[in-house]
Amino acid sequence: EKRDLILAFESSCDETSVAVIENGKRILANVVATQINSQKRFGGVVPEVASRHHIEQITICLADAMQRAQITYDDLSAVAVTYGPGLVGALLVGVTAAKAVAFAHHLPLIPVNHMAGHIYAARFAGEIKFPALALLVSGGHTELVYLPKVNCYQIIGETRDDAAGEAYDKVGRVMGIPYPAGKQIDELAHQGKDTFNFPRAMLNEENFDFSFSGLKSAFINTVHHAEQLHQELDQADLAASFQQSVIEVLIGKTAKALKKYFVKQLILAGGVAANTGLRTAFTQTMQQFPQVDFLQAPLNLCGDNAAMIGAAGYVAWKGGQRADLNLNAVPSLEF
Ligand code: KG4
Ligand code: ZN
Repeated sequence: EKRDLILAFESSCDETSVAVIENGKRILANVVATQINSQKRFGGVVPEVASRHHIEQITICLADAMQRAQITYDDLSAVAVTYGPGLVGALLVGVTAAKAVAFAHHLPLIPVNHMAGHIYAARFAGEIKFPALALLVSGGHTELVYLPKVNCYQIIGETRDDAAGEAYDKVGRVMGIPYPAGKQIDELAHQGKDTFNFPRAMLNEENFDFSFSGLKSAFINTVHHAEQLHQELDQADLAASFQQSVIEVLIGKTAKALKKYFVKQLILAGGVAANTGLRTAFTQTMQQFPQVDFLQAPLNLCGDNAAMIGAAGYVAWKGGQRADLNLNAVPSLEF
């Protein structure tokens, strides 16, 4: 088999990452420098702080990735980069670095949508079969994407307000859990029970859209009300109740879409796809759809990383997609 190596850059939010991917499916290097520790004290990502971190880290990550992959620039077939959606200043660091490498080494430049990248994180768990449906759950997005064929993405439903990860992080703030709160709430949820019965928004509506702001408000109101009455609420039960509501809505809407769209595969991806409760519940639900293959992004590749950009970049490159040196960051890029 011919060996095609893609160098990939990701810098859309708070991780600086550079990867080298062989034939779109094998990771030779995936260096991720996270800024979570510097962003924690702000309770979220401060765009200006993010950009500065990316500038400091990107060349270090690049040198590290090239060394770990044990390759030279002459071995590369193309350079892939996330150009949106994300923070404009953050994206520009990766885009500029990718352009510099592509220009200096006469390599094609492949523009990659960050959300397509999240879908292709699942490529490291198995082959993607079309037509497919993907549930993308991250800090900035919650959407159901229909993929009729390779390099073709159609959003069939999305959140009307907060993303699922955003709801986790906002609820975490009220509970005194540091940003990003998803993993800790997930762990806490396993020690509690769904005693609060928070709302399951839009579950019975005839569309594939989501809403999480009502759940977030119900949660915050419950906590504030208890504070006023000097009542102690069980933190584990709070977490379990919140998580159960999120899981039921995500699964209910996805199951509804699976009944309308004939697909060979369901893909679960994005930062929130690392949620163990969600993974378990999906695995169970998918037994009701024996004709649909279920592919989850590997746990360690659910969060932002350049390996997934390299995998999506590989199929985009094979499909003839190219950018020139005028490529710009597109903060609100859609499919
Ligand atoms: O995909 P991602 O790394 O960044 C974006 O593109 O947004 O997603 C980050 C989000 C954060 O909101 C974080 O709290 C959430 O994913 N997250 C989780 C878990 N791990 C990370 N949410 C729920 N359960 C988890 N285990
Ligand atoms: Zn992401």
